[in-house]
Formats: sequence, C-alpha cells, structure tokens
Amino acid sequence: MKSGLSNIVVLTGAGISAESGIDTFRAADGLWEQHRIEDVATPEGFARDPDLVLRFYDMRRAALAHAEPNPAHHALARLDQEFSGELLIVTQNVDDLHERAGANRMLHMHGELKSALCLSCEMRSPWDAPMLDRPPCPVCAAPSLRPDIVWFGEMPYQMERIYAALREADLFVSIGTSGAVYPAAGFVREARDLRAQTLELNLERSEGSHWFDESRLGRAGDLVPQWVEAVLGG
Ligand code: OAD
Repeated sequence: MKSGLSNIVVLTGAGISAESGIDTFRAADGLWEQHRIEDVATPEGFARDPDLVLRFYDMRRAALAHAEPNPAHHALARLDQEFSGELLIVTQNVDDLHERAGANRMLHMHGELKSALCLSCEMRSPWDAPMLDRPPCPVCAAPSLRPDIVWFGEMPYQMERIYAALREADLFVSIGTSGAVYPAAGFVREARDLRAQTLELNLERSEGSHWFDESRLGRAGDLVPQWVEAVLGG
C-alpha cells in the first residue's frame, strides 16, 4: 500500500469530526440534532420555514467555536504538508476542522458553515455571524443570504475537479462516511474502475464497504494517524 504512491484522493465524512464533538448525520433515530433532515437540509424546507433553517445553521456555526481538530484532522494536515505526490482531500463536512488543522489541498463538496450564499446576486462570501436577522449581503447588500450548504436535491461543488482527481488516483481512501449519500458514495467505484487501490477507514462497515479492497474498522482518531504514518514512513 505505501510504496510507490504518487496520487492520493481522500474522502472524509461526518465520522472524522465525531471525536471533535460534532454529531454525525445518521443517528439511530433518523434525526439530525432533533430535526428531520427534510426540514433543515432541503430547499423546500428552507422555503417552508426559513427562520427554522437559518436558526439551525446559526447554531451549528456557533458550535464550531467549541470544537477543535482531532488527531485525524491533524494527520491529514501532516499528509498534506509532507506528501510530495498529488493529493486532494474532498470533504463532505461543512465544518472547518480540516483547514484549522492546516490542510490546504482540500475542498468542501457540500459547502461550508462559514460561507454565505446570496440568493439575489448568487455570490458566495466568507461568513461567521448569525443569518436569522437577515443581514445584508457583503457584495450586493440585499438581505437575501442563505447558508452556503449543498442541500438534498442540489448539485455538490467542484464535481469536475473531483472526478479529474479520481481518474488520476492510485489510492482512494474513504474516512468516516456511511456511504449513503451520492454522488460521494459512488467515488469508490469510480476510482476502482480506473486503477486505484481503495481503502476504507470507518467505525463500522459502510453501505458500500464491499467495493473497497480493504476496510479497517475503528476510530478515525486512531486509524488515520496510523495510515498517514505508514504512507509517509514508506
Ligand atoms: P453519516 O452520519 O451518514 O456517517 C458517519 C459515518 O462515520 C458512519 O458510518 C459512522 O459509523 C462513522 N463514524 C462515527 N464515528 C466515527 C469515528 N470516531 N471514527 C470513524 N468513523 C466514525 O455522515 P456522512 O457519511 O458524512 O450532506 O453523511 C454524508 C452527507 O449526508 C453529509 O455530508 C450531509 C448528510 O446529509 C449534506 O449536508 C448535503
């Protein structure tokens, strides 16, 4: 696994931030922080009750101030800094823990809590304040901001860049994701259909676990530093 690697794509999901105290999505009760997903993570839910949705993401954004990157985020940041080959970290997470750990070669395919999308001018702006009181857009001043989050039914960001990276990858690693949400859940098949080795690091087997060459089960805070050490040590 470790020798001769020149191109790695890493996909991360909510499980990598669980040990930082951020809840995963698919809790046993099917609710996300006491809300139905269709109420807080769809354009229809936002149209129905914008105050509920804005308050929900205001609370998630505020909670980031109390969360710190954990050893898994730090290990990926170390990989970013020390791996001399190509690397792309694709996160489904909307928290900022990868970048706070120091990762640069990364993108947020499902958007970011600390970004605002203006429904009037369609520009995205860095954002770190509440939205419930309808603040003006920093670009056009319209009071039309929504969370810059990719909701169900919307197109994830930077898909062309992701598929281009998958085409070149010789290793695809999936960390802390249930494999329940497409298109991210399909990346493993994309990668293996080409030529990449595939590795899953997760607490339990994901829905697409059988597509991976290897699954290592355990906590991301243990498994990711071990894997990064092996890659860089090799
Ligand atoms: P999920 O909540 O569906 O899955 C989290 C996965 O992480 C599960 O397989 C857990 O077993 C695993 N896990 C939990 N704790 C872990 C730990 N300490 N170490 C390693 N693994 C652990 O979250 P995602 O797969 O990220 O989309 O969900 C995908 C998307 O669905 C999210 O990006 C979000 C959501 O709806 C949008 O908001 C668009």
